[in-house]
Amino acid sequence: MESYADTPDPRLRELVTSLVRHLHAFVIQTEPSIAEWEQAVRFLTATGHKSDDERQEFILLSDVLGISMLVETINNRKFGSATESTVLGPFHVVTSPRKELGDTIDAVGTGPQCVVEGRILSVDGTPLPGAQIDVWQANDQGFYDVQQPDVQPRANGRGLFTADQDGAFWFRTVVPSHYPIPTDGPVGTLLLATSRHPYRPAHIHFIVAATGHRTLTTHIFVAGSPYIESDAVFAVKKSLITEFVPVDDPGQAARYGLDGPFRKASFDIVLQPDGTS
Ligand code: BEZ
Ligand code: FE
Repeated sequence: MESYADTPDPRLRELVTSLVRHLHAFVIQTEPSIAEWEQAVRFLTATGHKSDDERQEFILLSDVLGISMLVETINNRKFGSATESTVLGPFHVVTSPRKELGDTIDAVGTGPQCVVEGRILSVDGTPLPGAQIDVWQANDQGFYDVQQPDVQPRANGRGLFTADQDGAFWFRTVVPSHYPIPTDGPVGTLLLATSRHPYRPAHIHFIVAATGHRTLTTHIFVAGSPYIESDAVFAVKKSLITEFVPVDDPGQAARYGLDGPFRKASFDIVLQPDGTS
């Protein structure tokens, strides 16, 4: 601790000395053998080797240890009625195609159809016309477009919408499925060795931006989805769980340009004004 005491940057000093204190406490408590220490070094080395411009195995490690969610939550503390945030995840990889309100983000048309709708509001209830709503999701088989470049059209399951003059948005899609996080690297080995499953409950990702407000990164989770109580990356917050209500009303279906029964998720998104905390 003393050897780091003269670190000129006070924040770096705090981080390094605290890291040393906590790592030493961990080693003193668990007394690893030399073989275990070597295995830990091999594990971290493999985690680095698995990472490249497209794949970040260290973030995945942070995710399954609950660190990503903790950092996320510390940096976006709950503010009044504002919608809670959750992790970005690794699949926000391409610019979402611009869409008109009511368009579908599903270019395949085989899964169970659904409508997602709501309003973008400020914490005092004022609508935020012109808010930008970036959405992306896995398909009904649990795969993102980028995981199946030969199967799904590019940018399938993605859209960038602009809220109307009442702050309202609505779009069509398929009900997403739960899916496993990537398990073909060291993080998968860790999950296997610890008898943990790799699944995330079904969800749709959102990044919502409006002038004068903090940009929000969040998901809506499909109520009743498998793994809703045991997300592999600990990202579920109760307030984000949304009913995807079955609708069997031809009038409503026609209003959204659908034929036949569908499910409807209604979810208002409330943004925190800039400069508040
Ligand atoms: C996702 O929701 O896309 C995700 C989040 C964390 C790890 C893997 C996937
Ligand atoms: Fe996801």
